[in-house]
Amino acid sequence: MRVLIGSTPDEVARIAAENVLAGLARHGAGADPVLGLATGSSPLGLYRELARAVQEERADFSQAQGFALDEYIGIPDTHEQSYRQTLVNEVCNTIGLPAQSLHVPQGMAESVEAIEEAARDYDASIAQAGGIQVQILGIGSNGHLGFNEPGSALRSRTRIKRLAANTREDNARFFDGIEHVPTHCVTQGLGTILDAGRLVLVAIGAGKADAIAAAVEGPISASCPGSVLQLHQDAVVVVDEAAAAGLKLREYYDDAAEELTIVDIAVH
Ligand code: GLP
Repeated sequence: MRVLIGSTPDEVARIAAENVLAGLARHGAGADPVLGLATGSSPLGLYRELARAVQEERADFSQAQGFALDEYIGIPDTHEQSYRQTLVNEVCNTIGLPAQSLHVPQGMAESVEAIEEAARDYDASIAQAGGIQVQILGIGSNGHLGFNEPGSALRSRTRIKRLAANTREDNARFFDGIEHVPTHCVTQGLGTILDAGRLVLVAIGAGKADAIAAAVEGPISASCPGSVLQLHQDAVVVVDEAAAAGLKLREYYDDAAEELTIVDIAVH
């Protein structure tokens, strides 16, 4: 795992975007980009930087496929708080990913069984696209990834989950009161997330310090779903100073962030 610490949210955004682009180059092998997309406030700066890279012709998402991490159950696609709508506004419209190439787990259907079946099909459609090359992630204050709440199976696949009470409280600010926050969602599983070529997780602010410390340096445990990053071969965690505050190995991360150069090799 690489842990990269930016001094400001803008620097975090720039570092994260460069790591997304490098991850696409590394895991895309010349194919069209396949990007995993997170909602939430944390990756907004990263999306802004990707949009800048498109303007500067360093990136092109016009042929890309995007796969959302999660969706609420019971609110229509067209609802402004649906994750489809959020990603169309915040990602498709900024980085030039066609809305018809955005895949989102299905949160509305005539029955629970139909939602479950669509969730299984979602994993199949990721595989059909050749797998997610780079998965962008935030982390919940309780350590959740996507909507994999504490207690989620470490090898879970896309499925229905009950939202934790504190997640519903955190997300109530987007709705007219907590009673309007859905109780359930469909989320990529932790196993689905682990299948991506590279993971780029962004966290900003003191409210994420405990979750980041547990995810990066704590035991691998369903109690902190973010800790599955420790099982991944190419995970990059980009945080600001406030979110890094609980990390014990800070000095090592700063040393390791410096690139290995030919001079280093010659010295030893
Ligand atoms: C939401 C999303 C997560 C996101 C998290 C943190 O509930 N399902 O994917 O990482 O909350 O959001 P924020 O970045 O706004 O703190």
